[in-house]
Amino acid sequence: MKPLIIVTRKLPTSVEQRMKELFNVRLNNDDRIFTEADLIAAVKEAHVLVPTVTDKISRDVLAEAGSDLKMIANFGVGVDHIDIVSARNKMITVTNTPGVLTEDTADMAMALMLGITRRMSEGERMLRAEKWKIWSPTGMLGMRLRDKNLGIIGMGRIGRAVAMRAKAFGLNIHYHNRHQLDEGLEKELGATYWQSLDQMITQMNIISLNCPSTPDTRHIMSERRLGLMQKHAYLINTARGDVVDEEALIKTLEENKIAGAGLDVYENEPNVNPRLVALENALLAPHMGSATDEARAAMGEKVLINVKTFLDGHSPRDRVLA
Ligand code: 8YV
Repeated sequence: MKPLIIVTRKLPTSVEQRMKELFNVRLNNDDRIFTEADLIAAVKEAHVLVPTVTDKISRDVLAEAGSDLKMIANFGVGVDHIDIVSARNKMITVTNTPGVLTEDTADMAMALMLGITRRMSEGERMLRAEKWKIWSPTGMLGMRLRDKNLGIIGMGRIGRAVAMRAKAFGLNIHYHNRHQLDEGLEKELGATYWQSLDQMITQMNIISLNCPSTPDTRHIMSERRLGLMQKHAYLINTARGDVVDEEALIKTLEENKIAGAGLDVYENEPNVNPRLVALENALLAPHMGSATDEARAAMGEKVLINVKTFLDGHSPRDRVLA
């Protein structure tokens, strides 16, 4: 009997095709979302589970895992939806898909940065509502990016890819990270390190969140820190919803205490707070950072390699350690 791989969501066709060639795989052809009961049934039966960000692999779910479950090969880089400690305690190997969605997520951060500072969706909404009457010297004015200060929170792969792009737009690059980058890399990116996140925030025109969601980064942009932002500053989030205190952000935007926010991620996806949806000074995307054909195919390829390597008795390269 070949080990059973259960995939929770519909993946790109080429990835599913290859999975069928290589493994005994159960696919989700109609892309139905797994409930907690479905997830429990899956972990009881599978040898390998392939989940995505939409599946909460909690302690409770893992407590029900059968003795056959040996691997969780996540389709995605963020693993905050998986209880990694419970998985480790049950000797379940967890892998993710780093590296292959870096460029697309950084592009999305730039798209949100340009979109919100130049009021793109606001302008489009106005035009589509037939409210654009005539060009105006004082209409739809936004903020120029060149020579402004961008503060990146989290200078891993994606943060650095944002820095490269932002530098080309003439932004001054600042960052806060657990560790300072080495001198060569700092020089290449023209990046200034701030040990104090609070101090950095007060000096920035734009803040971009590019850190993973962990207990340490949860609400890293807290109500207090949002209060440190300048009135004309913008917040960009392509990381995870819970790195920002969303309720506090909504209040900050409603009261025009900052200029705007460009968001790709939310605290309670896919339910976006209606107060956020009502705001003109927020540009909202539905978690699309890695949504390119290229990234999704490469993520699938990583999953395939991780599962194959593991089933062949080797240690997969993309292991996530607790
Ligand atoms: C993916 C992401 O779409 O990989 C991640 O961490 O946030 C997204 O780009 C999603 O996670 C797929 O599971």
